[in-house]
Amino acid sequence: MSKVDVVLGTFYGDEGKGKIIDYLGGKADVALRATGGNNAGHSIEVDGEKYVFHLIPSGILNKGTMAIIGNGVVIDPKVLIEEIETLKSKGKDVSKLRISTKAHLIFPYHIGLDKMLEENRGNNKIGTTARGIGPCYCDKYERCGIRVEDLYSDKFEELVTRNVTNKNKIFKIYNYPEYDSKEIIKEYKKYARTLKKYVCDTTSLIHKLLSEDKKIICEGAQATLLDIDHGSYPYVTSSNPTIGGIITGSGINAHDIGEVYGVMKAYSSRVGAGPFVTEQDNQIGDLIRELGHEYGATTKRPRRCGYLDLVALKYAVLVNGITALCMNHLDTIGNLDTIKLCVAYERNGKRIEDFTTNEKELLESTPIYEEFRGNFKNISDIRKKEDLPENAKKYIKRIEEYVGVPIKFIGVGASREEIIVE
Ligand code: IMO
Ligand code: MG
Repeated sequence: MSKVDVVLGTFYGDEGKGKIIDYLGGKADVALRATGGNNAGHSIEVDGEKYVFHLIPSGILNKGTMAIIGNGVVIDPKVLIEEIETLKSKGKDVSKLRISTKAHLIFPYHIGLDKMLEENRGNNKIGTTARGIGPCYCDKYERCGIRVEDLYSDKFEELVTRNVTNKNKIFKIYNYPEYDSKEIIKEYKKYARTLKKYVCDTTSLIHKLLSEDKKIICEGAQATLLDIDHGSYPYVTSSNPTIGGIITGSGINAHDIGEVYGVMKAYSSRVGAGPFVTEQDNQIGDLIRELGHEYGATTKRPRRCGYLDLVALKYAVLVNGITALCMNHLDTIGNLDTIKLCVAYERNGKRIEDFTTNEKELLESTPIYEEFRGNFKNISDIRKKEDLPENAKKYIKRIEEYVGVPIKFIGVGASREEIIVE
């Protein structure tokens, strides 16, 4: 049995990673987040109660599961504490939460910068979640970032003061409100006290747990095409949500990784700006959005919707080494009479099956579709792949054939039980 299984997004996020993680989490001793921050929004429905996770690994809902926030995550402590409080108020045990000393902290000035930079992009907006994610990662790589361990160091005040002074110079130029370091220091010292009991060296903790044969599920956030290196730059997030980010963001080594689950939907969606080859900016897209409830869990923004893009999915399989796919919303796509599946792009008169992240090339690509019969409704009670309607089976088979990876999980409804497991 492998020690670490990883769940990753294959497209532009919001693939329903939470649902699969929830299922797999029941079999794990540890749930881990390694990348991103509270730009992620993972919704899970358990016993009629809806939970939305932004920072804490959702596996914490399973009794006895340890939840680790690894070094690669950027943490807004205010949001983290709110999440802890919400879980406690719903009677959930959070005593097994662990937070890496090496994770970087998001400060109010990061959020201010995120908004300011976005406003100044004019017509070239990325459509960020405005949570300060990009500016926080910028500071990490610029080496002026402030980490969780710094909250407990006697250099903390100096670090904050230096950062606030430097950032205020930028805010001044752009005529944006400046920040008060004393206020921030006071606020963050309060957060430090609340979080202290959860903070530890998670890298050594993870290796200790692995040596005890504990099973870890790594909960990916964001997705392959939002990856800063492998995604559709610049319309991406500022971290590596692909497999490499899981390794650097946790300290787990490549040999310990077993299954890599790629989560996808039976269609595609995207929030924020950037190319989207199979987008349906029409009635079909509107229908998918309404039936699939495609509104952001983090920002409530309506998501752009379209047909499934196998060119992109194949790319995600290759970049991450995906060993099994998890497809959500089969029930949603079944409402269409005809379902289209993008099997290649046409660009400059040529048929192309290799994905590109080049913006111009993506914008110049038009999808080549194969058509499938839909109209498979009321499938939410089905629990075996073989019991699915023929039309659904044909659609699934073509996807598996194209990417060369089996679909092992199929979501047929929103709730926890509405899933087919192969
Ligand atoms: P989950 O984990 C969907 C998108 C934003 C924006 C771009 C950059 O729920 O799948 P950022 O705030 O990260 O600098 O924004 O990335 N984005 C997501 N889209 N789901 C997410 O996470 C996302 N996290 C970031 O919409 O286009
Ligand atoms: Mg999301």
